[in-house]
Amino acid sequence: SLFLNKLLNSLCVQDRDWGADLQFLPATDSKQLEKKLYERKRLWIGVGMLICALALMTGLLVWHFNRKLTLSDFCAVTSVLMLLSVNKVCANPLCVLRCSEGNSGDNGIVAYYQSEFDVPAPQQTSLDEAVNSLESPEESAGGRHGRLLLRPKDSLSVNSVISQGFIDIHVRSPGHVDSPGFPDSPYPSNAHMQWKFRADPGHRIRLDFQDLILEDNCQRDLIKIFDSLAPIEKRTQCGYPHGSLSFISSGNVMLLMLVTNEDKNFPGFRADYSQIPLTDLNCGGTLTGEKGSFTSPFFPSNYPPQTSCVWNIEVSFLKFQFNKFFVGNQTEQCLHDYVEINGERLCGSDLKGTVLTVKSNKVTIEFNSDSSYVDQGFAAEYEAFTPNNPCPGRFQCSNNLCINKTLQCDGWNDCDDGNDEANCKCDASQILCKNGHCKPKLWLCDGLDDCGDNSDEENCVKCKGQFSCKNGRCVPENLKCNGKDDCGDGSDESRSLVLQQCSEFTFRCRNGRCISKLNPECDGEPDCEDGSDEADCDCGIRPYRSSRIVGGQASQEGEWPWQVSLHFKGMGHVCGASVLNNRWLLTAAHCVQDKDKQKFSQADQWEALLGLHEQSQTNKWTVRRGVKRIIAHPDYDHLSYDHDITLMELDTNVNLNQNIWPICLPSPTHDFPEGEEAWITGWGATREEGLSANVLQKAAVRIINSTVCKSLLEDSVTDNMLCAGVLKGGVDACQGDSGGPLSFTSPKGRVFQAGVVSWGEGCARKNKPGVYTRVTKYRDWIKENSGV
Ligand code: ARG
Repeated sequence: SLFLNKLLNSLCVQDRDWGADLQFLPATDSKQLEKKLYERKRLWIGVGMLICALALMTGLLVWHFNRKLTLSDFCAVTSVLMLLSVNKVCANPLCVLRCSEGNSGDNGIVAYYQSEFDVPAPQQTSLDEAVNSLESPEESAGGRHGRLLLRPKDSLSVNSVISQGFIDIHVRSPGHVDSPGFPDSPYPSNAHMQWKFRADPGHRIRLDFQDLILEDNCQRDLIKIFDSLAPIEKRTQCGYPHGSLSFISSGNVMLLMLVTNEDKNFPGFRADYSQIPLTDLNCGGTLTGEKGSFTSPFFPSNYPPQTSCVWNIEVSFLKFQFNKFFVGNQTEQCLHDYVEINGERLCGSDLKGTVLTVKSNKVTIEFNSDSSYVDQGFAAEYEAFTPNNPCPGRFQCSNNLCINKTLQCDGWNDCDDGNDEANCKCDASQILCKNGHCKPKLWLCDGLDDCGDNSDEENCVKCKGQFSCKNGRCVPENLKCNGKDDCGDGSDESRSLVLQQCSEFTFRCRNGRCISKLNPECDGEPDCEDGSDEADCDCGIRPYRSSRIVGGQASQEGEWPWQVSLHFKGMGHVCGASVLNNRWLLTAAHCVQDKDKQKFSQADQWEALLGLHEQSQTNKWTVRRGVKRIIAHPDYDHLSYDHDITLMELDTNVNLNQNIWPICLPSPTHDFPEGEEAWITGWGATREEGLSANVLQKAAVRIINSTVCKSLLEDSVTDNMLCAGVLKGGVDACQGDSGGPLSFTSPKGRVFQAGVVSWGEGCARKNKPGVYTRVTKYRDWIKENSGV
């Protein structure tokens, strides 16, 4: 605002009459002021001249820095537009867009001002010099022509922005704003749009983005949100941002800006707006009780800027655990946004899971945010404890977390600091790592550092002068790539790229010739002479978004665009399925078997929902289709669940969109390596015999060695099945997930369907992995029956 003062000064020096008897802020007798202003036509000529002078100055400054004005990066400098209004009388005929509404108290002149100027940081000093040369403070201190009178002091509060191309919205009644064309067409190129939101006095604004899909490069397309004049997100938003997309203002003005460049337009956004009374802050206060929780204001929305709250707890020994913590920036030493517990400041984002203890009769916790950066905030739990027994009946981690005793020495780091796995006595099914941890024997020499010190991968049988198979066996080098499986796991046949005899370890090109490269399909490199390994690769990517995955169980909308929900008449969601193209779905055969009165085999009883995220609510990306034909695998065996696979043809084609996209089908020889991560998704039960989910859930599992799997499960696991899960338990598919895909992301980032959710013993039990239909076994069957 210092700069603004200077501008106002330089503006006012040019008209003496105006300056002589005018007060800037606050105006004492505004009626009279208004009259006087009207009387003095000369003034307007002056104002006109001033605007011109200002424009000239802007031009000069731009020229001075020899830089183009750009839309995407700017820092406050020069007035592009200025509006003076006195008590609802618009003054300047040249560029007035609207008048001030005059909040209570500011019935003087309100200057609306927007600055946009690109100043390279090293040149900021010279910019200041340039501005100083326009008018020296000493001169104005002389008071000639009353310049001083017009100098707005600290009392000038700039709390609103006006610009060309803006849309003004009063948020008293809730509604939404869309980027132009949303959702039917992409936003326009070279757009610079602003939405100004105003709430009633005494209210704040809440802006929730339901959708936000921009180009991934923030140098090209971006949105920026301002709390009054201060940008309230340090990072501008672009791409398909994750984290909370709910923003809350500190006062009753908020500005949203969209800037796009000339190429690549994306769908844009839809944001809901509403107003919240300032009194609804709901933070701070006295917390009583031995146990409890509290959060930053409006959690899990981003906290509002310029907010502080204080909580008091009166307990002598207190433990805090932050389940979520995103407050301010640690590199700035917690100066701006922070949580302070009895004088100790916390900020940043890596505090999650940390346990803090405080010994004191009274604990004061303060949350503070400044005017710029906002983030999701925190969710904290606290609990009083007795110092001599902090974890009654449970194991105490060295970070003071208490965990169930059964989690001690189970091979998994439950304390977060590995403390529960130190100094363990390993049982017969475990190996002892050098660092004292116990890990399941299965993980010995599996190529992954499970111990944390790599001791489970040391001294593994290395094949001297021979080829080492993935399963640990050694075979003579000359047996590699001879078309025969000498290792027993095919690993000697899946290395180099040679055109050779076809075998079950080679990829068959369309021209019938075979190559021995591992998983060559859709890897971005043409390997077959006829290019057929790279044909039909419009699958397995998330359109309009980068492949960022965030933690947690609920997935993001559009994260699994190949996931389908199959609804049966009168029952709602029954099974999952996957999108193969705009007409065909893949699901499980056990989903379409008649059960008593329920004729699950009848196509017309089914409805497929594609692009669905929440069961309770469809949106503009959701497409419903009837099912025209069901082709269950003819050899499906309802006792063993062997060949548990089915094709479904939709009654009409669907248009693919950002939430509907096919998954890639693996070739018959595609290898999904054991121990690697794959994702399961579905609306099925969230625990054994539990209720099904509303929001599409996701979980990471690992592909499990078939021999191990066969030994772990009581029912027989055939070669047409693939096991995946988390042997510790706790993660699995469950009832209602059947038919859905097991998604495997290739090293090149493309997603292939490794399995179809088929069966399991209970759900998520320890050492009971889930069983999936092995899709590679059915690649040819799918092609023959659907053409896909
Ligand atoms: N058969 C179940 C269904 O119809 C799916 C079972 C998957 N179970 C498991 N534990 N992985 O939904």
